[in-house]
Amino acid sequence: MKLLQALNGEPIWPPPAWLMRQAGRYLPEYRATRAQAGDFISLCLNPALAAEVTLQPIRKFGFDAAILFSDILILPMALGQGLRFAEGEGPRLPPLESLSTLDTARAPGVYAPVMETVRRVRAELPAETALIGFAGGPATVACYMLDGEGGGEFPRTRRLAYEQPGFVAAVLEVLSEATIAYLSAQVEAGADCVMLFESWAGIFPAAQFRELVIAPNRRIIATLKARHPGLKVIGFPRLAGLMLGEYARNTGVDAVGLDTVTDLAKAIDVCPPGTVFQGNLDPLLLKLGGVAMDEAARKLLAQARGRPHIFNLGHGITPDVPEANVARLMEIIRSA
Ligand code: CP3
Repeated sequence: MKLLQALNGEPIWPPPAWLMRQAGRYLPEYRATRAQAGDFISLCLNPALAAEVTLQPIRKFGFDAAILFSDILILPMALGQGLRFAEGEGPRLPPLESLSTLDTARAPGVYAPVMETVRRVRAELPAETALIGFAGGPATVACYMLDGEGGGEFPRTRRLAYEQPGFVAAVLEVLSEATIAYLSAQVEAGADCVMLFESWAGIFPAAQFRELVIAPNRRIIATLKARHPGLKVIGFPRLAGLMLGEYARNTGVDAVGLDTVTDLAKAIDVCPPGTVFQGNLDPLLLKLGGVAMDEAARKLLAQARGRPHIFNLGHGITPDVPEANVARLMEIIRSA
């Protein structure tokens, strides 16, 4: 598998490629399957249909990796927190007031369908295509649990981190343990590697970044690697800025997903030698296509040449991306 070879530090060329949110609303077959499931959460918990949407972009574009179709918020839902997706508005949860409302013992039963999806996808994927399991990073998942919605500001989470640090630490503790169990189950079901999405890592000041992002990520990664020798882990500390080097050095990740703003050359400078990078084309260019996309993709490829690199976007595909642009991007990468 080219993806695992790159994660092992081999400068595979052309680089393996996949795209965050590669299964999603820009694909008509995704929209049809979601309609069949009824709604997004039902789709995540329906192994036959979730496996189908995981495989759709592989069949269409031949990516080097499939990512399990699910969501980072399935874990808090499995822990007993209500979750709904408001049409056109994103996720909503009742903001968490107390740990006593969470039930870690019931979680594996609720997320059991996700493990069945992993088994089905692995059985159907071509041997050379890697299956990426994933979870949200605990800080990012806690943002949604404490604020009850996204939007990127998370005012309650940030206030609680100062005013009730013990409560926030306890939430992260529960989430870290639950995340270890959840990712471990994915690996046992057949995931070839895993990725931690710390999409909101960059909202915290440096001291809190160390405590709320780096420390829990390190603990999760160390425990997973002890349980599953050889397991490769990709971290995505979005908007980490100058904290990127510390994140790479102190968490034990094998690869770092770069957000859109981060220059690969600068990331190479601040991360330990041997760090593998993934990313980071601007998703807007995938929507716009044309010469601008071609040139940016070629420039990124030139920067990554000679290194172990995984081609990806800097954030997820948006629903307005034309499929033809995805096909064109893959052509550019394959002919690099
Ligand atoms: O193809 C894949 O990348 C795998 C599946 C996947 C989804 N979400 C499917 C999804 C993955 C890995 C995620 C991760 C995720 N979910 C993150 C971290 C990555 C990031 O984007 O920063 C976050 C923050 C979430 C939480 C979440 N899920 C939000 C904020 C939203 C609403 C925004 C939106 O795009 O509508 C979702 C919904 C969601 N997750 C969709 C998909 C395909 C759209 C649901 C639909 O079909 O309507």
